[in-house]
Amino acid sequence: MKGEADDNADRAQEAEVEVVAICGSPREAGNTATLIEALLEGARESGAETTRFDPAKMQILDCIADDECLKGPDAKCILDDDMGHIYDALRRAEAWVLGTPVYHGHLTGTLKRVIDRLYAFYMSEGGQWRLALEGERKGGVIVVQADRGLATPERVAEYLEEVLRAYNVEPIGRVLGCELLKRGDAAAHPDMAAQARDLGRELASE
Ligand SMILES: Cc1cc2nc3c(=O)[nH]c(=O)nc-3n(C[C@H](O)[C@H](O)[C@H](O)COP(=O)(O)O)c2cc1C
Repeated sequence: MKGEADDNADRAQEAEVEVVAICGSPREAGNTATLIEALLEGARESGAETTRFDPAKMQILDCIADDECLKGPDAKCILDDDMGHIYDALRRAEAWVLGTPVYHGHLTGTLKRVIDRLYAFYMSEGGQWRLALEGERKGGVIVVQADRGLATPERVAEYLEEVLRAYNVEPIGRVLGCELLKRGDAAAHPDMAAQARDLGRELASE
């Protein structure tokens, strides 16, 4: 007869990939969230575990650059807020997803605040930075905006992909949405959700 621990071990073996998404929109059930959910649904369909963070609903403080986190591989950020949950999940995950609406031509401050705090995954050794985070990961990005044309979302996606690479996360796909203004506009574009679901499936694959 199998016990609870065996069941947990079975589940851990079955769910070999965890996909963690950070939604940079402060809008409840907005377009970024809709596409992130489609992506995570695709990942779950492929057997992955998924976690979504909405930093706008969490207490995430600005990085204060005291550099305590750089002091060694186990050094931690000294700020006492909800970022600890995000660090733990990202460390565990095999795939990272960053999503944001375009605000004044760029990512939201909500997402940038989280990105700045990822600095705690670095350490300083002999005056050189090095990543204190182990392993290679896959990543994806989602960028939406109200305007027509993909030039700005492409630029923002390139920036987010550069951030991912700095953490040894290889971007394998992006979902860009334009002409999405109001909450719910993304739901009228099943093509975008389908693209997000496909990316989720790819992120979930070994
Ligand atoms: C403060 C603010 C700034 C914005 N700036 C831009 C912009 O520069 N370009 C654009 O196309 N849309 C802009 N938008 C529109 C949002 O990108 C658009 O409504 C998007 O669908 C919001 O995504 P969400 O529902 O995930 O929050 C802005 C919206 C806000 C609230």
